[in-house]
Amino acid sequence: MTIAHRKFDTLIIGAGGGGLRAALQLARAEAHVAVVSKVFPTRSHTVAAQGGVNAALANVLPDNWHWHMFDTVKGSDYLGDQDAIEYMCRAAPRIVYELEHFGVPFSRLDNGKIYQRPFGGQSRDFGGEQVARTCAAADRTGHAILHSLYQQNIKSRTHFFDEYFAVDLLKDDEGNILGALVFDIASGEPMIIEAKTTLIATGGAGQLFRTNTNALINTGDGIAMALRAGIPVQDMEFFQFHPTGIAGKGMLISEGTRGEGGYLVNGEGERFMERYAPRAKDLASRDVVSRAIAIELREGRGCGPEKDHVLLKVDHVGEEVIRKRLPGIRDLSMTFAHIDPIDAPIPVAPTAHYTMGGIPTNRFGQVVTPLDTAPEEPVPGLYAAGECACVSVHGANRLGGNSLLDILVFGRAAANHIIDHLKHNRHHRPLNQASVDQAMARLERWDRTDGSETVDGLRSELQQAMETYCGVFRTEEVLREGLEKVSELEQRMDQVALHDHSRVFNTARVEAMELENLMGLALATVSSALARTESRGAHSRIDYPDRDDVNWMKHSLYFHDDRQVDYKPVRLKPVSVDSFPPKERVY
Ligand code: FUM
Repeated sequence: MTIAHRKFDTLIIGAGGGGLRAALQLARAEAHVAVVSKVFPTRSHTVAAQGGVNAALANVLPDNWHWHMFDTVKGSDYLGDQDAIEYMCRAAPRIVYELEHFGVPFSRLDNGKIYQRPFGGQSRDFGGEQVARTCAAADRTGHAILHSLYQQNIKSRTHFFDEYFAVDLLKDDEGNILGALVFDIASGEPMIIEAKTTLIATGGAGQLFRTNTNALINTGDGIAMALRAGIPVQDMEFFQFHPTGIAGKGMLISEGTRGEGGYLVNGEGERFMERYAPRAKDLASRDVVSRAIAIELREGRGCGPEKDHVLLKVDHVGEEVIRKRLPGIRDLSMTFAHIDPIDAPIPVAPTAHYTMGGIPTNRFGQVVTPLDTAPEEPVPGLYAAGECACVSVHGANRLGGNSLLDILVFGRAAANHIIDHLKHNRHHRPLNQASVDQAMARLERWDRTDGSETVDGLRSELQQAMETYCGVFRTEEVLREGLEKVSELEQRMDQVALHDHSRVFNTARVEAMELENLMGLALATVSSALARTESRGAHSRIDYPDRDDVNWMKHSLYFHDDRQVDYKPVRLKPVSVDSFPPKERVY
């Protein structure tokens, strides 16, 4: 069989904010760049980001990048790498002004400056009063950014392969990554995209959990691809639960709602966050607020007949603010909870939201892996940026508003490194045919007709198992059961067969490959969570309730081949300022 074949300087897999920011930088530098996306680019999950992007612009209250850096290090429960955090927080104002020039329609203050709202975990003077650091386009900031970046890419002649699914990375004999095998969802035809450099920007894996804020497409495809290419994944035990998903359904109700003055109440009508975070209250960091809600529910102080949610009250901020600053959450609440927040509180509960772990990278976007000879070496030709990557600026807990910032800062940084790399690597290297054959075999496996299991059935069981065994609170016993269950599900993957073997728009085949990706990441998540016997950030072990900096100030690395978890040190040293040493984290 002859496989279609295209060649580019750079292949970008994923067309969310990280992929598009990188593509724009490359296209403007005259690189020949291709973006592969399994959905039309403006349907990527960045479009769903609501509350905003953090940058210390000081448009509303005094602020500076160093306070932003402190808040991010503290928010990460000291597991974030401080060189990368410094780089991100310093770059933030410039990144936001660039967006303004790309045409992002930010909300405005009366003086014409970009509107900024308070978000969780933000402070002035290294832990003092709340600041307002989150730059917002109402509550549709991701939508505004994604559309502007897409339009800029069209203008700059980036080449898009829309609705193509990436199967696996391709290599040469020396381990250089040279692009990917993809297939066209419309025709089912495979294609080799050869590239001198490859950037993975495929987003997170929220579909691991039954109730989540994520798009159906968030199946961790790029992270799983890296695992299969022999690269370990980092810090997968840290999965963020957003405090305010619509109860029982999961759709995101932005932290911006609390930033605009909303607050949480329990079934007894109590503003309970005052007990858990006396100073920051409802704007404590997300892990703290999600745990507080989970405790309220566990102790019987929830709302409704099942006492399974709390209420987010926002009516008191007034109709004008809700219509102007929070039109999106009003729509969502009316559509999915049948409640107009202008009149009544929204029922909410913690919901799986964000993958803090992912493909290990340095702050230049290069994917790094341990070698026998070095603790960390770049994988030649391979880059990652955004939620699929673990750079690690979020450590054990991400601050709201730092996700859009991360994708933009490190999408751009990776592109700059690639531009330099391309100057010194002008020629394509010869592909290793075995890596093409392997990727083709993975695709053709779905032509098999024998098997009694279905993709839908296994995916539901997997999502339920992750929610039951790997949720907000964890114990050794429950995680062990979870690992057994996920391992059993993985074995049953062998028995999955598709009923539809047609080529044209066969979305069943896409879903089967997505499930394979989720399965690999579920194993990585539960194994890493079982191994970490401490509580830190979003990883909350009832049997090990304290943070243990003596034994656990380290990043986990999960290896797919031998299913082992290893570790590497946290980079505590920033580039040009003093380190923030670990201390007790209170809000
Ligand atoms: O709550 C939100 O608007 C989400 C923001 C984020 O995850 O950064």
